[in-house]
Amino acid sequence: MTVREMQDKILQLKKETDTAVLAHSYQAREIVEIADFTGDSYKLSVDAKGVSNKNILFCGVHFMAETAKMLSPEKRVFLANRQAGCPMAEQMDRDLISAIREKEPDRTVVAYINTTASLKTVCDVCVTSSSALRIVKAMDAEKILFIPDCNLGSWIKDQCPDKDIKLLSGGCPTHAAMTKRHVEKARAEHLGALLLVHPECQPEVVKQADYVGSTSGIMDFAKKSDAKEFIIGTENSIAEHLQYDCPGKKFYPLSKDLVCRNMKITTLPDVYESLLGIENGGAFEILMDDQLIADARRCIDEMIRLGG
Ligand code: 13P
Ligand code: SF4
Repeated sequence: MTVREMQDKILQLKKETDTAVLAHSYQAREIVEIADFTGDSYKLSVDAKGVSNKNILFCGVHFMAETAKMLSPEKRVFLANRQAGCPMAEQMDRDLISAIREKEPDRTVVAYINTTASLKTVCDVCVTSSSALRIVKAMDAEKILFIPDCNLGSWIKDQCPDKDIKLLSGGCPTHAAMTKRHVEKARAEHLGALLLVHPECQPEVVKQADYVGSTSGIMDFAKKSDAKEFIIGTENSIAEHLQYDCPGKKFYPLSKDLVCRNMKITTLPDVYESLLGIENGGAFEILMDDQLIADARRCIDEMIRLGG
């Protein structure tokens, strides 16, 4: 079967099974093309809330599908590849954060959405990379514990000097591997190109950027900008999507190593097989008990309330 033939079958199966496909912008081109909703983690959380289909098939990583399930508990939510997990989401657990809360009860715990549902139950508010700064600024709390990404946390801390923000050492292995040497090399190879980076990159990279933002933020900035050349400091699929969307501009990855294996593990055949398996138990369904949903959802609702 060609890619085109498989995409046509997928479109048909989506209708037959009443399924909406939600794909994070880090997914491959052929998956984004058949998705009903695409975007960054924040946009997909809001989209998941409004889906009218019976089923949601998520192309992304596990915590994203879990978030969709929490926001649409009456729907069946499936993850296109059961092995797609975000390593950052597993770096901290409930016991660690509960112990800090006991020692410092006056600190509000702000959790990046890249965390498990279990960890979210002991946090006060969730944020995504596109909503984090707005939410932290809008919060009354002055003493904050920001988990798990210390790079995103440092970027927020720098812009909120009036708040006491405590960080722990977690983060995204893919973005954190970028250094100022990657920036120097890319800038030397592409003179005059603007550098757009994700705040999961280290401060030494973020400080040199012309724009810092979420995956959707980076895409919007590049599309609206009058500039013609851009170095993209986030997962390399973003440079690829932008090149399709803006053929008159040039997009260069900050490094060829900026690849998230976890996001890239999902393939078009996974989407096809999942849709075939939705009615007969062959697809990977996200199952969560009602109490976990209720407890973990509080901080996601709080994110949507503060960030909306
Ligand atoms: P966004 O919030 O930009 O979608 O990022 C999610 C993510 O996993 C980035 O690595
Ligand atoms: Fe997780 Fe990093 Fe991959 Fe995003 S890019 S899903 S934070 S490992």
